[in-house]
Amino acid sequence: MHKINDNYIEPLHITERGNTMARVLFLSDQHHPYCHPEALDFAKRIYEKYDIDTVINGGDEVEHHALSFHMRRPDMPSAQEELKRAIEHLQPWYETFPEVTVMESNHTSRPFRVALNAGLPTEYLKEYKEFLKAPKGWNWAPDITIDEVLYMHGEGAKGGAGGAYATVTKYRQSVVHCHMHSFAGIQWSATKQDMLFCMNAGCIIDPDALAFAYAKNFPNRPTLGLGVVIDGIPYFEPMPLGTKIKRLKKTRKVLI
Ligand SMILES: [Fe+2]
Ligand SMILES: [Fe+2]
Repeated sequence: MHKINDNYIEPLHITERGNTMARVLFLSDQHHPYCHPEALDFAKRIYEKYDIDTVINGGDEVEHHALSFHMRRPDMPSAQEELKRAIEHLQPWYETFPEVTVMESNHTSRPFRVALNAGLPTEYLKEYKEFLKAPKGWNWAPDITIDEVLYMHGEGAKGGAGGAYATVTKYRQSVVHCHMHSFAGIQWSATKQDMLFCMNAGCIIDPDALAFAYAKNFPNRPTLGLGVVIDGIPYFEPMPLGTKIKRLKKTRKVLI
């Protein structure tokens, strides 16, 4: 079993199943209640495909649009209704993945930031677990290190197409994050001393939800998928979206 000390999980050497390291599923941004309706089935398939033993939720598990510091849409639900729906949408995730370490993140922390902005001391506030009605096995942390890989939400990561390379050099450690919805993928970086990676695991939001209408004309659309790290090696699993993922047709015959 993994031993958790503060935010550190001891590297596994030989488990009862013979694994040398953890088999991690990294759930990218969901923004409940605006998560993609097929995301949970997709996550279950990836969990089984890789025989996962450790689940990390990368954060932004709830949207909190009504508590935004930016423009709030008048046609969106109230803060109370949004929280109620988010908890309903989280319920099947709680049942499917009862043991999860959740990364603290900018959207989920909005109630705290609104309260602190209004001068309310933290003593008056509820924990994430309490206001999201999460099960005992869901625990929040700013970040977590497993087998020397740093998992975090990604507010300190670099965005854009070249962001993953900038992040791995910035942290001087292998990193897995989400938070940047528009890009996903893995960048490796090697020196004489080490070989490290950064994986941006994208998001699993519903891009058509009103909460994301602000980005509807952006050229780069949300990149849907999940991250997996098996024995210290990262894999990005793009979410199958029918014809949305286009593949090149074969344009020439193979000559024998
Ligand atoms: Fe997000
Ligand atoms: Fe975020």
